[in-house]
Amino acid sequence: MESLLLPQIPDVHRIDIYEAHGGYAMLRAALSKTPDEVTAEVKRSNLRGRGGACFPTGLKWTFMPKDSSKPKYLCINGDESEPGTFKDREIFERNPHLLIEGAVIACYAMGVTTAYLYVRGEYKYWIDLVQKAVDDAYARGYIGTNILGSGFSTDVYIHRGAGAYICGEESALMNSLEGQRGYPRVKPPFPAQNGLWGCPTTINNVETIANVPIILRLGAEAYAKIGAPKHPGPILVGVSGHVNKPGVYEMPTGVPLVDIINIYAGGVPGNKPIKAVIPGGSSTMILRGDALEGVCMDAESLKAAGSSVGTAGLIVMDVDTDLVKVLQRITRFYRHESCGQCTPCREGTGWMEKILTRFCNDDATQADLELLLDVADNIEGNTICALGDAAAWPVQSMIKRFPEEFEKHIQEPAAT
Ligand SMILES: Cc1cc2nc3c(=O)[nH]c(=O)nc-3n(C[C@H](O)[C@H](O)[C@H](O)COP(=O)(O)O)c2cc1C
Repeated sequence: MESLLLPQIPDVHRIDIYEAHGGYAMLRAALSKTPDEVTAEVKRSNLRGRGGACFPTGLKWTFMPKDSSKPKYLCINGDESEPGTFKDREIFERNPHLLIEGAVIACYAMGVTTAYLYVRGEYKYWIDLVQKAVDDAYARGYIGTNILGSGFSTDVYIHRGAGAYICGEESALMNSLEGQRGYPRVKPPFPAQNGLWGCPTTINNVETIANVPIILRLGAEAYAKIGAPKHPGPILVGVSGHVNKPGVYEMPTGVPLVDIINIYAGGVPGNKPIKAVIPGGSSTMILRGDALEGVCMDAESLKAAGSSVGTAGLIVMDVDTDLVKVLQRITRFYRHESCGQCTPCREGTGWMEKILTRFCNDDATQADLELLLDVADNIEGNTICALGDAAAWPVQSMIKRFPEEFEKHIQEPAAT
């Protein structure tokens, strides 16, 4: 497949090079259509969000009210703080104008007059690059007032986060943008009705928005034929862990995980067998290395395998990995990042970390294993946002699929 999100065009991050290769032509084309026509095209493409939940993007756009007298907002989510996920920054660095073009098209389709690009605070280097791209796009009339003489106006602002994973959760992101503490909000009301400053708001991931000009260029029908039929399009897969060539690879959805590991990422060092993979960032359910046959990087296939695409951050672990240590490290992350609003998450993540530390110290009992699962089960589904689920799923799936990893750390009290 031709690289669509990260094309091999030298210096395409520069506006003149981007334009020379057809950049911003799709914005011009979109402005000659009605906003509803643009939304319909995105809907027909079957694009599904790349921020974790795989929600259909065109459908999400239709939730924005047409008759609201309030301003409408687009928040582009570049918080990218999940362990194992590092793909949006490739777009920031290598093709920022694709993102900006997609953002302005999305604004036009939804009648949005202000877009915010919320970027992970640690990404200072990339924020500066994208800011330069935004400034250049303003200077050429692609953002701002009366864009390309169409009568449509919109602004794009970059907002730098302050290093909190929770601010990637869409409602915490909006609170953070408003200057409030990054606490997730109870839903309903949903952002399309009551979002940023109580106004209609859509939140989309960076990669999702970068797909929009590609859909318009190829046409929805051709786009829908790329990769897996129910979850089509190009996808950026970040591969990390025990592979020879870790990195971000663009591919069609639906590539077998073993091909991603062996062909794209150069295989496992020393050709060691794979013990486990986490397919979509640390919150997605872990899979056994000996059960990867036929499992592909798309929503349907990973669901059938008992996991999910998440943000397509594939973490590979070879046969020598101590998975309990991995799980303790992941759980420590969620304990640290829990915002503390909901008791099950605030307390439960800490309890899970403590129990896992007992396992790491070979100081755990069989009862600890049952307790660990019980705590995870009581977090899942019992919190305002999905951070609780994100903390519970690795624990639940690890216990279910790798009981032997826990058992080898269990010290039964000596019989008296
Ligand atoms: C704790 C938490 C962190 C999240 N972090 C991100 C993130 O960094 N980037 C992102 O796009 N979505 C993140 N999400 C998902 C967003 O809430 C939201 O679903 C997504 O931005 C929607 O975009 P999409 O429809 O284009 O996928 C996170 C969700 C949770 C629960």
